[in-house]
Amino acid sequence: MAPQLDGYFKQVDTLSDHFIERLRQAVAIPSVSSEPARRPDVVRMGHYLRDQLTKLGATAELRELGKQPGTDLNLPPIVLARYGSDKNKRTILVYGHYDVQPAEKSDGWDTEPFELTVKEDGRLCGRGSTDDKGPVLGWLNAIEAHQAAGIDFPVNLLMCFEGMEEYGSEGLEDLVNEEGKKYFADADAVCISDNYWLGTERPCLTYGLRGCNYYSIEISGPGADLHSGVFGGLAHEPMTDLVRVMGSLVEPDGTINIPGIKEQVAPVTADEEGLYDGIAFTMETLHESLGSKTTIFEDKKKTLMARWRMPSLSLHGIEGAFSAPGAKTVIPAKVIGKFSIRTVPNMEIEKTNDLVYKFVEEAFKKLNSKNTMKVYAQHCGNWWVASPKHWNFEAAAKATERVWGVKPDFTREGGSIPITLTFQEATGKNVLLLPMGSSTDGAHSINEKLDKKNYIEGIKLLGAYLHYVAEEPMN
Ligand code: BES
Ligand code: MN
Ligand code: MN
Repeated sequence: MAPQLDGYFKQVDTLSDHFIERLRQAVAIPSVSSEPARRPDVVRMGHYLRDQLTKLGATAELRELGKQPGTDLNLPPIVLARYGSDKNKRTILVYGHYDVQPAEKSDGWDTEPFELTVKEDGRLCGRGSTDDKGPVLGWLNAIEAHQAAGIDFPVNLLMCFEGMEEYGSEGLEDLVNEEGKKYFADADAVCISDNYWLGTERPCLTYGLRGCNYYSIEISGPGADLHSGVFGGLAHEPMTDLVRVMGSLVEPDGTINIPGIKEQVAPVTADEEGLYDGIAFTMETLHESLGSKTTIFEDKKKTLMARWRMPSLSLHGIEGAFSAPGAKTVIPAKVIGKFSIRTVPNMEIEKTNDLVYKFVEEAFKKLNSKNTMKVYAQHCGNWWVASPKHWNFEAAAKATERVWGVKPDFTREGGSIPITLTFQEATGKNVLLLPMGSSTDGAHSINEKLDKKNYIEGIKLLGAYLHYVAEEPMN
């Protein structure tokens, strides 16, 4: 029987301004996990969530994780919370992250990134609106709307919110493994709302993510930055070495030059071959979210495969290089190149690292440079694939159809949420990704937004999902 949801939906609409206000408060806390100076704000955001949850009647606590490795900084706390402990109800564990990517108005934002701006067309603009503060608050809002409507909450809700996701989820893995059979012991399934629709029209449910291994190459030689007129042509230059080594990693068409990587990639099965055509995804919407037409492939299937099931190698930047406007005749003394590899089934983290180190060391050796080179991984997070043939996905599909009036696509994603596989293994339960936002939200980019419609209907969706979960036969 379809659950009675009208009263709940009505309350979500009634409370929509209040929910936008809550998002405004959250966006106003610049919880940027990668900037040491912002660490107190990340901590403040954790406290904000704990306080909001407590006010809503949940039992919430903060778990400290100690120092960030290699620094004197405290890691932000994990927010653990429980709402309801009725033995006759199912228990759903939800995860989200309350940290955000860096943002400065000067990066090119039209509005202040940490002031939520409500545009006339319904865009809620602000850093973290879609990644991942909107979805995290979605769970809190769902609780509040149930209370306001006087409707019994359909499940017990366990919550785990972290503040270091954008930095590789430092410290969380041990906690999740530790609590798998303790705090999370009665979880029947896991739901993560931290991804996006493939386009702007059709919602999706996601059953796979790529992993991410993030590397640094440090090259140094001279004792200090030098005048290129005085030392150019007579000293080995770290930038010259680094650009060569980084340039040898990947081809302009995306081909990874490191031997042994593609050999680890799972072959495409016959079942999988047929999967891509029906997905609501067009090169046009891809070009819209890319902001250009500079795609490597012309067709949808190759493009989706490149995002979902093939590894990729991206060059991110060079620390210590001259990057200001103008012309400075400097030879940088030490430069650190950053790149990452998105990993897929069946790539192994350690094996991939060894292949990367070997390739980089050999490439550097070939240069016959007297400089010093060091290559290492900053953080590594695993890929994840689950079976969508599970009551958890069934419930989410029914809820999606109820709220959005269309059946969702079943998708994988190219991004990474490093802790996903850990939740699956530590609890032994099915994990589902249930997105709120859409492909044009611009997570990590300037002018990040969540459409008001996706926020409000997304709150309905999260609540509806919990009602359908309560009704699904369990096998
Ligand atoms: N929400 C994203 C993950 C994501 C991205 C899911 C795209 C689906 C599509 C998450 O906040 C994120 O950005 N993760 C980082 C993890 C990295 C630092 C290990 C990422 O993917 O770069
Ligand atoms: Mn995210
Ligand atoms: Mn992110």
